[in-house]
Amino acid sequence: MAIPSIVITGASSGIGLACALHFDKLGYQVFAGIRREQDRDALQKMASSRLQPLMLEVTDEAMIHAAATTVSEKVGEAGLAGLVNNAGVAVAGPLECLPLSELRRQFEVNVIGQMAVTQAFLPLLRQGPGRIINIGSISGLIAMPFIGPYSASKYAMEALNDSLRVELRPWGIHVAIVEPGAIATPIWEKSIDRNQQILESLPSTAQTLYRPTLLKLLKNVQRTSRAASPVEWVVLAVSHALTSPQPRNRYLVGRDARAALWFIRFIPDGLRDWLISR
Ligand SMILES: NC(=O)c1ccc[n+]([C@@H]2O[C@H](COP(=O)([O-])OP(=O)(O)OC[C@H]3O[C@@H](n4cnc5c(N)ncnc54)[C@H](OP(=O)(O)O)[C@@H]3O)[C@@H](O)[C@H]2O)c1
Repeated sequence: MAIPSIVITGASSGIGLACALHFDKLGYQVFAGIRREQDRDALQKMASSRLQPLMLEVTDEAMIHAAATTVSEKVGEAGLAGLVNNAGVAVAGPLECLPLSELRRQFEVNVIGQMAVTQAFLPLLRQGPGRIINIGSISGLIAMPFIGPYSASKYAMEALNDSLRVELRPWGIHVAIVEPGAIATPIWEKSIDRNQQILESLPSTAQTLYRPTLLKLLKNVQRTSRAASPVEWVVLAVSHALTSPQPRNRYLVGRDARAALWFIRFIPDGLRDWLISR
């Protein structure tokens, strides 16, 4: 029997890397999406010779199609057992003066990119039939101030995930979304660096209006990242979604995610806004 094959986007670090190494250890044929040659070498040192790094920039349609062709040639009739849509970036900043190019970049990567990859790999998933696991976020269920772009992208993924889950039922392709709270990965440092650059490039009126709040927020982000849950918790959820005979539709990961869900269910808007703004 052919070994099951899966594709994971954004496997150079964090959740994607941890998932790639986990499934590689379990004996899967893992196609691990990366964007840089140096990540190919790093992955090959960490994983078995079975794991295949795959050049996959999710905003580049030609590259996505080339990747799908490579995978198709390798897996043949067996198709894919799974696709983990994990690649993502976090854009933050005050919506009043956020450069629209940053809002577009956020959606290009976190939403359009995921759909482009899903479309390209669906024929192989139908052959499996395989499963789709989308990495959402608690930010797709509760929108906090100053991470509006990121939240909006994850809300959009919630909607696409729910539509896709029902659309693909006739072929037995299960679609799940994983909704982690704060997880200890490099995304925090990357977004702090990038968002500091955005902050510096804001016009001076915007700096005057928002700088004090944003500096406070930055401290808060640093505190949250220090209390983040281990990446292994997300790997467990992805593993259940991909291998369990009874996969769930959604997986909340982390105590903070559960607390946030409780908060939005039971706290009225007025009180919630007051608590958040404090
Ligand atoms: N960490 C958290 O607290 C947390 C919580 C909830 C949800 N999530 C979600 O989990 C997913 C993974 O994040 P992470 O925390 O593991 O962060 P990470 O370590 O920064 O990993 C993000 C991955 O996405 C890749 N990526 C970024 N832009 C891409 C693009 N345009 N095309 C292809 N790949 C791209 C990165 O590749 P490069 O190395 O080449 O940039 C990297 O491999 C994201 O969807 C994120 O929103 C994270």
